[in-house]
Amino acid sequence: VRRKLIAANWKMYGSCTRVQDFLEALIPRVDPAGPEVVVCPPYTLLPVAVMVATGSPVAIGAQNCHWAEEGAFTGEVAAPMLAELGVRWVIVGHSERRRLFGESDETAAQRAAAAQRAGLSVIFCLGETLEEREQGHTFAVLERQSKALEGLEPNVLAVAYEPVWAIGTGRTATPQQAQEAHVFLRRCLAELFGDSAADTVRVLYGGSVNPGNAAVLLSEKDVDGALVGGASLDVGSFSDIIRSAPEPPTGA
Ligand code: PGA
Repeated sequence: VRRKLIAANWKMYGSCTRVQDFLEALIPRVDPAGPEVVVCPPYTLLPVAVMVATGSPVAIGAQNCHWAEEGAFTGEVAAPMLAELGVRWVIVGHSERRRLFGESDETAAQRAAAAQRAGLSVIFCLGETLEEREQGHTFAVLERQSKALEGLEPNVLAVAYEPVWAIGTGRTATPQQAQEAHVFLRRCLAELFGDSAADTVRVLYGGSVNPGNAAVLLSEKDVDGALVGGASLDVGSFSDIIRSAPEPPTGA
């Protein structure tokens, strides 16, 4: 049984006081026996976030990292720098990085590998655009994008299926669309890592997840969690989303 994973992607929002207040309110509401919880604020908020969350059931993640250990890469942040802070996770290949900052399957793959070398766990994002879905290319796109996972360590990897047309639009995939894509992605993972390893990788859904739709999405068999953008900025709605994950079967 895969433990659910609920991650907050704060994007370029927040401040030091806001992330501190948020975590101080969130931590007492997180059940250590429930879903795993990760909060990913912007880089500058990471030290405060780690300080507040240390020793709690909430882990802190970053939203990107570079593929080199160090070097002349103005404006970039290396994975070992994040690890040194006590950051445990990093989001890689988000569609906003792909669309607005020229991220490709290749660079996302390199960033993910560097993150794992530094001891970080990776949330690797992929998903089709509206045009690709309407042309019937969804599975081909997911297959191509998932090839970037080759060579990664499946034990410290989660995949986030984020249909681009659902991100920040208020338009969610139906539970059936999500389940179907997740089953397909798990088949791609099995090709790369073998059946038993693929079975342990959590496939998260992302795209307009909110307290009103989280429960039905998270009750799909292959939806192992959520990557939440807009609704993760409010501690009430984010903790409602965490609470809406179904209980694991007893004895698991
Ligand atoms: P959203 O963002 O929940 O605001 O749609 C999700 C994401 O981009 O990870």
